[in-house]
Amino acid sequence: MVDLLLGLQWGDEGKGKIVDVLTKEYDIIARFQGGPNAGHTLEFDGIKHVLHTIPSGIFHKNAINVVGNGVVIDPVIFKKELDNLEKFNIDFVAKLLISRKAHLILPTHRLLDAASEASKGKAKIGSTLKGIGPTYMDKTGRNGMRVGDLEFDDWKTKYRALADKHEAMIDFYDVDIQYNLEELEAEFCEGVETLKKLTFIDSEEFIFKAQAEGKKILAEGAQGSLLDIDFGTYPYVTSSNTTAAGACTGLGVAPNKIEKVLGIFKAYTTRVGSGPFPTELFDEDGATMGRVGNEFGATTGRPRRCGWLDLVALKYAVQINGVTELMMMKADVLSGFKTIKVCTAYEYKGEHIQHLPYNIESEYVTPIYTEMKGWAKDLTKLTKAEELPPALNDYISFLEEQLQVPIKIVSVGPDRVQTIHR
Ligand code: GDP
Ligand code: IMO
Ligand code: MG
Repeated sequence: MVDLLLGLQWGDEGKGKIVDVLTKEYDIIARFQGGPNAGHTLEFDGIKHVLHTIPSGIFHKNAINVVGNGVVIDPVIFKKELDNLEKFNIDFVAKLLISRKAHLILPTHRLLDAASEASKGKAKIGSTLKGIGPTYMDKTGRNGMRVGDLEFDDWKTKYRALADKHEAMIDFYDVDIQYNLEELEAEFCEGVETLKKLTFIDSEEFIFKAQAEGKKILAEGAQGSLLDIDFGTYPYVTSSNTTAAGACTGLGVAPNKIEKVLGIFKAYTTRVGSGPFPTELFDEDGATMGRVGNEFGATTGRPRRCGWLDLVALKYAVQINGVTELMMMKADVLSGFKTIKVCTAYEYKGEHIQHLPYNIESEYVTPIYTEMKGWAKDLTKLTKAEELPPALNDYISFLEEQLQVPIKIVSVGPDRVQTIHR
């Protein structure tokens, strides 16, 4: 049995927190796409952890964590992540398994990312500059290096050929990128040596067997549906399928083996990086969301753009993913707003529409809002659904009715315990 947990907006919905909360119910937690562009935050016992490549079930003894074939791995960042977790005495060899088919991010992929962004000027994607795009380009272009290559003696020959090609490509961009490749390569080789100490697996086979044995698997998404390479706000997207289908290709899970699709969204909307964002606020309300919600990127530290909940976009994400249960995060951040706005339609070419058109840049769409009463109550100490204020219950009921999917979890703070089950 495989359940999926996916972000429904532009990422940073709180996936790390919820995976951590749910891990006790699962035997395996598996990442299926993305790479260290992700920053998944977990908080418990007063400590905050940010994971980039390692699945968010790593702090639980009961679960095995798998990095699936659809993920791209930077050995340098991976080593740092492992080093940060040293004091937790986690048995990584037994608890963290890596797919041989996962692709490797080379130092030159990161440089290519930087060169590509620099060459775009104002039109830049706002990439996290972790080398994600160039690595997936080499994957689909059939030039990439995979984790399994590291088990063969000639991996450095393969590496050299690819890195040399990348250097020529960097020159082609004709932008000023300063780097010392020797230093970067030394760091990369150190990362590779650390990675090689872990257990490499044929992850699809591992997942088949686990299913045959009746194990419970949770696939952990990265980024969000609106950053999907096919269905997101292209070209301002990431380079993988962040939606449900990504779990099939990124882990080898057959579509008919997927049971629950858990969709996670913030009670409002955020976006980091460039690209259209119809409900973005440039006023005091947006600033309040950013301040109260501490909206800074977990990977890059950039301030996140903030705005009201966009139901048109959320409905689209629910449909694309076949979401069966919803989780609403950061409800606590909206406490104190006199009124809460929800975008229920777009004005597009003089009409009100409720689907996502080809282009959602502000020159084409204007959000139409429904206003609802806010609540003043501090939610952060609440533990039971019965304690939620009536205005929040109205907000939840409205969203459930619009989306036709139940909201099963309301999150009221970053800590594991600040989670209300309904
Ligand atoms: P992810 O990428 O989806 O795992 O999300 P991030 O970790 O990038 O961003 C979510 C941020 O919100 C993190 O700083 C979390 O600690 C925090 N967070 C998660 N849930 C809640 C919540 O219910 N309330 C508040 N105030 N913060 C939350
Ligand atoms: P998690 O898993 C939010 C955004 C970047 C940029 C675009 C492309 O923490 O939710 P990339 O580095 O992939 O080339 O960047 O996607 N982005 C994210 N935004 N959360 C993420 O991951 C993101 N990963 C990438 O800001 O706009
Ligand atoms: Mg994040």
